[in-house]
Amino acid sequence: MAPLRVVITGGAGQIAYSLIPLIARGLVFGPDVKVHLRLLDIPPAANALAGVAMEVQDSLFSTALEGVLATTNDVEAFTGAQVAILLGGFPRRPGMERWDLIGKNAGIMKRMGELLETYASPNCKVVVVANPAQTNCYILSIYAPSLPRKNITSLSRLDHDRMIGMLLHEANSRLMSASAGNGSECVRKLTAADVRGACIWGNHSNSQVPDVSAVEFFVDGRWVPIESVIPDRTWLGLSNSLPGGGNLGVGTEGSLVEAVRKRGAAVLAARKLSSAMSAANAIAEHLSDWLSPEKSGHSPAVSMGVTTDGNPFGVSEGVFSSLPVRCTLGGDWNYDEGFSLTDDVRRHLEASVVELEDEKATALKMLEKAEAAAGSA
Ligand code: NAI
Repeated sequence: MAPLRVVITGGAGQIAYSLIPLIARGLVFGPDVKVHLRLLDIPPAANALAGVAMEVQDSLFSTALEGVLATTNDVEAFTGAQVAILLGGFPRRPGMERWDLIGKNAGIMKRMGELLETYASPNCKVVVVANPAQTNCYILSIYAPSLPRKNITSLSRLDHDRMIGMLLHEANSRLMSASAGNGSECVRKLTAADVRGACIWGNHSNSQVPDVSAVEFFVDGRWVPIESVIPDRTWLGLSNSLPGGGNLGVGTEGSLVEAVRKRGAAVLAARKLSSAMSAANAIAEHLSDWLSPEKSGHSPAVSMGVTTDGNPFGVSEGVFSSLPVRCTLGGDWNYDEGFSLTDDVRRHLEASVVELEDEKATALKMLEKAEAAAGSA
């Protein structure tokens, strides 16, 4: 069988550096699928990209990797691409307004959309990671009108996995101390496979809505509700009525919700670099749940940035948002209708969708401005 053609933009960047080995070892598209990687970056990063290509050769990846092309020619990189992993984007510089960043990246995504439309496989599957990820998906969808909208997704799996990681940390410490307290034998440590029902709704920004209201843990051979393991509703960000009226909930300070929203900033402050290993791992999980023959159709509900058009949750149409989906065999996905929104989650999600609509309007305005400037030059 011909190798799967996978393009990675931002190929010289730090996420690509962690992602390439996962793909090359067959951990993303399946051990039996041969991959031809096309690493694209911009000319100023050409030397760094050549260095990455040297390291790929030196790593003797022999199982899944059929070949590597490292290039600054975007047409060459996208020609025949069956999977596109879009990491390349303009980074935020000191003093730069968020809206400037959206405008710069809209220009990049416009070009990526045109490349997908003209040169990639007509059924190319896309994951956008470069920020603002969901709004970038929207811009892509305009400039790649022939590509099915369901083929365009963005990464919210990192936020999803951060939430699961924090839940597991809390649940395991409670289960261990309970078992030590009653003198029973050490309980089995819960892993990611023992958690279900978690979801991230909305934008990949501080307005995202990590939602644990439907979470269950697999403890002692059965699924139990989250509160039977972690009864602290305030930490979980679940709505609590207050004596004087009002309630705490998703927005509560010091809650899991706040920690998930700020995790990227915490990693950046500690590492002086943004999340890369965990981002690469989340991309690998996103793609393998969606596209690998071993996992697609067998995975639990996951969070993905997808089109809101036709969604069953009552989220406004016309944008891309993180929603719960189930991947089905053969590279498709469906909204997971088993999820429903609590009033509190809905209220916060609506605010996040307003932010997405603002980002979309800004991106379109900036593109219009750039086109007008190009026309008058
Ligand atoms: P990085 O700055 O290390 O690498 C980005 C690479 O993209 C650079 O090598 C740059 O030269 C390249 N690039 C810029 N414009 C390009 C273009 N037009 N075509 C091809 N390549 C281009 O960044 P890193 O850490 O690898 O992150 C990549 C993106 O992912 C960033 O936008 C970051 O904000 C985003 N991100 C998103 C996450 C999510 O959960 N959605 C999580 C972590 C990062």
